[in-house]
Amino acid sequence: MAKIKRATFGSKVGVILASAGSAVGLGNIWRFPYETGNNGGAAFILIYLGCVLILGLPIMISEFIVGRRSRANTAGAYSVLAPGTPWKWLGRIGVLTAFLILSYYSVVAGWTLEYIVEATTNSFVGKSSSDFITSFITFSSNPWKPILWLVLFLLGTHFVIVKGVEKGIEKSAKIMMPTLFILLIVLAICSILLPNAGTGIEFLLKPDFSKVTSSVFLSAMAQAFFSLSLGMGCLTTYSSYFGKDTNLTKTAFSVGIIDTIVAILAGLIIFPAAFSVGIQPDAGPSLIFITLPNVFQQAFSGLPALAYICSVLFYVLLAVAALTSTISLHEVVTAYLHEEFKITRGRAATFVTAGCIFLGIFCSLSLGVTKEYTLFGLNTFDLFDYTTAKIMLPLSGLFISLFVGWYLNKKVVKAEITNDGTLKTFLYHIIIFLLRFIAPIAIAFIFINELGLLK
Ligand code: TRP
Repeated sequence: MAKIKRATFGSKVGVILASAGSAVGLGNIWRFPYETGNNGGAAFILIYLGCVLILGLPIMISEFIVGRRSRANTAGAYSVLAPGTPWKWLGRIGVLTAFLILSYYSVVAGWTLEYIVEATTNSFVGKSSSDFITSFITFSSNPWKPILWLVLFLLGTHFVIVKGVEKGIEKSAKIMMPTLFILLIVLAICSILLPNAGTGIEFLLKPDFSKVTSSVFLSAMAQAFFSLSLGMGCLTTYSSYFGKDTNLTKTAFSVGIIDTIVAILAGLIIFPAAFSVGIQPDAGPSLIFITLPNVFQQAFSGLPALAYICSVLFYVLLAVAALTSTISLHEVVTAYLHEEFKITRGRAATFVTAGCIFLGIFCSLSLGVTKEYTLFGLNTFDLFDYTTAKIMLPLSGLFISLFVGWYLNKKVVKAEITNDGTLKTFLYHIIIFLLRFIAPIAIAFIFINELGLLK
């Protein structure tokens, strides 16, 4: 992150909050529920949790090691630790991935702004489930409205990046994150109390392994990488500002636990509500935008003021959660351009923002006006999501685990994990084992399986 960030990362809370701020976002509240819905529910969640534990955490620790050791931006980091080798491409591809993710992520982030306005102007009141579906489709396929919000969201991100107001972000994260958490718990309780909520809870908790195919594994792995902000140097960049005394393993566990709890809570809100109002769980990216307004209306039908406050608050917090993630994505590319091409931070940020607006417009239009233009059956929006989350992140993750597990000097890895021998070494052996064997083999296996080469 920005140079200013280094100073603020003195505290453990700062380290965890910044990393959790990057991890917790639309991936948890928007992407996780619809991927769970598309992939059959509880069995997907179990595989997802497995991916977090044996792939996500060791790879997160690897990214931390690379960042803290090199103290450089993600592309520079590999040049510092492996000078003159092709490893620098791992960093460069990460930068490209960040750029692509930011482009389509901002489209959805923009939608949250529209929903803040709708919630504030009370336009959820009196709508039925099918009204919510229609109004979402009308909005997202409108040629200019979502683009306006997309531009606004990216300009907001840009503003924070050029200002480098890390203190502002961290301070607000300290208030916003716990508020989001409390609100999620309240909403989950409301959702569970809705009529017919049981079917949704069952969908979430009772695994049906007959629905598990190779693509469920790929989706679960992709979701783990996406949600934990792994595979493109986001956390490498952050960890270059960690202090010497930061316990990398503990930090990774904290981030992993916070991120998982938020995702599960989101599932507990969406599915009971979706089943209760008769919306299919495989509605895709629109899922939270049609079920949630419904939850607010139905759960608090006798208390319109509460319904109003909760809906406004929810979308505001969702936008904030998205903002802390877009900042982390934007910063990866900005820091890279700024440091590697020696241009000013402001100019670097302008390039990134302009480029993302350009690509974001294509993503946004592909949900409406240019819907028929597809590649491999996917529109631009889905194509960006598929290639980044399902190919680039896990593939980079594979190489990161190989880099730390096999290439990097073991003394360096040990020194980083144990903070120069001051922490217990037993975890070091487990982490190294996971990085050397389990993570690369599991990722390769999931890919090969998906390509159908095993059949
Ligand atoms: N993890 C964030 C979310 O869940 C999105 C995100 C931020 C991300 N940085 C990333 C995803 C890096 C992949 C890689 O919303």
